[in-house]
Amino acid sequence: MNDTPTLRAAAGKPAVSRRTFMMTTAAGAGVAATCGAVAATPAEAPANPHAGSQATRVTINGKPYELALEPRASLLDVLREQLGLTGAKKGCDHGQCGACTVHVDGRRVASCLTLAVKTDGCAVTTIEGIESLDGTLHPMQQAFIDHDALQCGYCTPGQVMAAIACVREGHATSDAQIREYMSGNICRCGAYAGILEAIREAAPQMQRSEAARHA
Ligand code: FES
Ligand code: FES
Repeated sequence: MNDTPTLRAAAGKPAVSRRTFMMTTAAGAGVAATCGAVAATPAEAPANPHAGSQATRVTINGKPYELALEPRASLLDVLREQLGLTGAKKGCDHGQCGACTVHVDGRRVASCLTLAVKTDGCAVTTIEGIESLDGTLHPMQQAFIDHDALQCGYCTPGQVMAAIACVREGHATSDAQIREYMSGNICRCGAYAGILEAIREAAPQMQRSEAARHA
């Protein structure tokens, strides 16, 4: 005979198992606690669609934005999902591939690892913002085209933004240096030879045009 741990009731009354007894009393306590909480809450507070959001003023590609951002939102998600700037790509979302590279105050960053609220007061530049006002491509963009520095193109916006920063940082003075300072940008298509040639060619052009602009 199966003799499970059952609380035997008096004759004629249903038996209650120890497990059922514990579950029932625990649920009852939960309900009591919840009811107390409900009673203390003011009735029907109006929902605030920006509850928990943080006001952020940021200039993106020369255009000022006032945004209400979730504190945990990444810059990459805000650019792509909220502002429709889909040039920066989501490759790994872990800071390992460089596909999401943009500039913040002139410095390259992995936008997937950058909290958007941290760009408050900053100037962000994406691949959409580097051509001239008349539509002329940036010398680095043109060099990528001229040297066939892409295949599928998925990594290319990040490569171009990293390459521009690499030149401005003074890290494009030799092939070895370019390889080292571009090593955070992965190309699954293996277009590295073309990327190296493009940077080698665009570097002096960039330096000349930026020197002329600041003269
Ligand atoms: Fe940001 Fe890969 S998506 S580094
Ligand atoms: Fe395809 Fe780089 S061109 S991943």
